[in-house]
Amino acid sequence: MSDAGAAGYPVERVFVAGAGLMGHGIAQVHAAVGKAVVLYEPELDRAIAGRMRIAANLDRAVAKGRLDAAERDATLARIEPTTDIERVADADLVIEAVFEDLAVKTALWTELDRRAPGDAIFGSNTSSIPIDSLAAAVAAPRRERFLGVHFFSPVPVMPLVELIRGSATSDETEAAVLSVAAELGKQVIVSADRPGFIVNRILMPFLAEAMRALEEGVGTAEDIDTGARIGLNHPMGPLALADFIGLDVCLGIMRVLHEGLGAEHLRPPRVLEDLVAEGRLGQKTGQGFFRYGPGGVRLSDDGVRVSGGGIRDSGSEGSR
Ligand code: CAA
Repeated sequence: MSDAGAAGYPVERVFVAGAGLMGHGIAQVHAAVGKAVVLYEPELDRAIAGRMRIAANLDRAVAKGRLDAAERDATLARIEPTTDIERVADADLVIEAVFEDLAVKTALWTELDRRAPGDAIFGSNTSSIPIDSLAAAVAAPRRERFLGVHFFSPVPVMPLVELIRGSATSDETEAAVLSVAAELGKQVIVSADRPGFIVNRILMPFLAEAMRALEEGVGTAEDIDTGARIGLNHPMGPLALADFIGLDVCLGIMRVLHEGLGAEHLRPPRVLEDLVAEGRLGQKTGQGFFRYGPGGVRLSDDGVRVSGGGIRDSGSEGSR
């Protein structure tokens, strides 16, 4: 594109598709630096819930004296929840943060491509799906404006963005996104378009190995997590982190890594498959390796136990 680039393509209007764990945070950080944000979900309840999560985050910052009330109100006023996909028509930057499923993402990108301005940049927050597979959903001229923009959770707290170029992504598109990331105060790393990119390529085998250690009875869930927290100075143990990310999300990423790279150490552990099959998806369902109350508060330090190949809860509920 002729006028694209850090200075030549100012991003003022951002359309965020998906108001869940990642989408609401992505909307928040853009609104906080003055962008006009449209927060899209096909169901209004979900779009409004995303904006309410942002309001709660901002209220917490005000209560801690890190934000003044006027800034909170101005940030919130810049976020418009909508179910109307046509609102993408004046976006400069479109970020997609919907369920990690190729079919879901490509169907949405095709719809967005039909309605967005020709020069709008398309960034997918995919955590593992190849960018070229997603870019195939848009018309050829858009592919040079398409790339991966991978944020980390909680988005307002984690200062990293992983940028993934597809084979058609232009230098100008990368420069424009680097410029926005700098405005957000995020540090950028650039990854090749390989399964799991950089961070999940490192993280998922670590989480999987913690799960296998649990399966083999090397230690309890509590001790495995304490080992990483105290022995490695990680803010969360690997099993709590998996619960925080979402066990279904972790399973999806591990499958992409295992299928894409073939290495045995990337195979999803049985306990993860079992927990997901039981609908125990981590913090968001109140149960994963640990149990959680409202707001993701951990109810007890006792985690699941695995014996005879199956999951056993510690505590009063007995075996499952
Ligand atoms: N949204 C916004 N802000 C949040 C938040 C949330 N969900 N959770 C916590 N915070 C803020 C708090 O308000 C607090 O802010 P202040 O410093 O202004 O007071 C700060 O984060 C620290 O929070 P707490 O004191 O409540 O709790 P903590 O010290 O235990 O930190 C944590 C919480 C930031 C989540 C920390 O445990 C942590 O960094 N965990 C690791 C997170 C991580 O690894 N994320 C990456 C996951 S991988 C991924 O996202 C990508 C993928 O593809 C899977």
